[in-house]
Amino acid sequence: MEKTTAVILAAGEGKRMQSALPKVLHPICGYPMISYVISAVKGICSDIVVVVGHQGEKIRQLVGNRVRYVEQKEQLGTAHAVLQAVPLLPAEGNVLVLCGDTPLLTAEAIGNMADRHSQAGAAATVLTAHVPDPYGYGRIVRDEKGGVAGIVEEKDATAGERKITEINTGTYVFDIRSLKEVIDEVGCSNVQGEYYLTDCIAILQQKGLPVAAEVLEDYTLALGVNDRMQLARVQSLMQQRINNSLMEAGVTLVDPQTSYIDAGVRIGRDTVVMPNTIIRGRTVVGENCIIGPNSELVDCRVGSNSVFRHSVANSSEIGDGVAVGPFAHLRSGTVLEKDVKVGGFVEIKKTRVGSKTKIAHLSYIGDAQLGSGINMGGGTIVVNYDGKRKNLTTIHDNAFIGCNCNLVAPVTVGKGAYVAAGSTVTEDVPAGSLTIARARQVNKEGRAARYLENNNSKNMNRKE
Ligand code: UD1
Ligand code: CA
Repeated sequence: MEKTTAVILAAGEGKRMQSALPKVLHPICGYPMISYVISAVKGICSDIVVVVGHQGEKIRQLVGNRVRYVEQKEQLGTAHAVLQAVPLLPAEGNVLVLCGDTPLLTAEAIGNMADRHSQAGAAATVLTAHVPDPYGYGRIVRDEKGGVAGIVEEKDATAGERKITEINTGTYVFDIRSLKEVIDEVGCSNVQGEYYLTDCIAILQQKGLPVAAEVLEDYTLALGVNDRMQLARVQSLMQQRINNSLMEAGVTLVDPQTSYIDAGVRIGRDTVVMPNTIIRGRTVVGENCIIGPNSELVDCRVGSNSVFRHSVANSSEIGDGVAVGPFAHLRSGTVLEKDVKVGGFVEIKKTRVGSKTKIAHLSYIGDAQLGSGINMGGGTIVVNYDGKRKNLTTIHDNAFIGCNCNLVAPVTVGKGAYVAAGSTVTEDVPAGSLTIARARQVNKEGRAARYLENNNSKNMNRKE
C-alpha cells in the first residue's frame, strides 16, 4: 500500500477528559497520544492528513510538518471530519482512516487490515476486536453469513446490540471512489445528532459493495482514550510495551511495575533499573549502569558503568564510571566527566566537573568550571549569585577545597592550591598556594570552668 493516504481524526475536544489540553495531545510515555498513531502509519502511508479543529493550532505546533492538515471548523461527527479531507485525496486507490485517540495500535495490526482489504477486494475494511467490556464503543453488527452489516454506536444501540462484544476500533481502509460515493449520504438522525463515519459501512453494504473486517488478536491494541481512566490504562499498557522491549534488549528492570520509562529513552545492555525510577524525555543510558532506586532522569546522557542512586537529574551529562547519590540533584547544564563522584545532598547546576573530581557531601556548585582530580570538601558552597548577577567560578586541576568553604564568585582557584576548611574565598587563589581565609583561633587556657560558672549564674538571675 505504498502510496496510500492516511487520514487521522483529531478535531474533537475530548470533552470526557475534562481538560484544557486537546485530548490527542495528552502525553503517554513522553509523547503526545497522536504521535503514536502517526508513527504506526508512517511505514505504510507516504501521505498523512490530520483533521484538526478544536485547538488545531496547538496540534499543528506540536506535531509539526511531518503531516498535512485540514481543518474541520465545527465538530459535527467523524464522517464530517473525513469529508473535510476528501478534497485532499487522490482520485482513486485506498485511504486509511484512524482516530487520534487509539495510540496502542501497531503498524503490524494496521498492515494486516490493509492486506485483508486488498485480498478481499473490499470497498471498505474495518478493524474490529472482541473486548471484555465493550461499553462506549461502536458495536459490529454481523449478518447471518457472518459479514459486517453495520456498526451501531453505544448510545444508539438496543439492549440486545449492547451485548455484542465485537467493537469498532475506529480504524478503516476505504476504497476512495466508494468512500466518495457514500460519504454525502450519511445523515445525522441519531441520539448524538452527529454524522457518523460508521454509517458508511451499512450504506456500502446495502449498495451491495463488499465490506470486510479484520479482527485484532490482541484487543488491548484497540483501546481508545476518552477519559482519564482510559488514559491511565493505555499509559500503563504502553509502559509495559516499552519495558518489555528494553528487557528483550538486555536491560534488567528489577520491578517493571514501578519503572516509568519514556518511549524516546535508550538504555544499554546489562544496565539495571531499580524500583521507583522515572527515566524521561530523550535520556540515553549506556551499558552496565545501575539507575535507581527512587531516581528521576530527564533528558540526560549517562555513559557506561555509572551508578545513579536516589537522585534527580535534568538535562545533564554523566560520563563513564560516575557515581551519583544518594540524594543528589543535578540541574540543567551539569556535565560530570569520567569517574566523578557526587555524594549526598549535593546540588550542581550549569557546571562542568573534570574527571575523578569528588564532591562528596552537602555542597552547592553553580555556574562553575571544575578541573580534574579536585576534592571539594563537605559543605562547600559556590556563592554564584550576588543578588543581581550569576558569576563564574573556576577551579583548576588537583585543587583541594577544605570543608565548609564559601567560594565567592567571580573567583578562580589555581592548580594544586589548598584552601583551608572554613575559608570564605573572595579573591583568586594562585596555583599551588595554601589559602586560609577565616578568623584566627584564640585559645584562653584554663578559662573554660570560669566561663561556664559565669554563664550559669547569669541564667539563674534571669529566672528570678
Ligand atoms: C468512535 C467510533 C466508534 C468506535 C470508537 C473507537 C464513530 C461515530 N464512532 O467513537 O464506533 O468504537 O471511535 O475508539 O465514529 N473527531 C473529529 N471530528 C468530529 C468528531 C470526532 O475529528 O467531529 C475525532 C476525535 O478527535 C477523535 C476521533 O475522531 O480523535 C473519534 O472521536 P470520539 O468522539 O472519540 O469517538 P468515539 O465516541 O470514541
Ligand atoms: Ca474515542
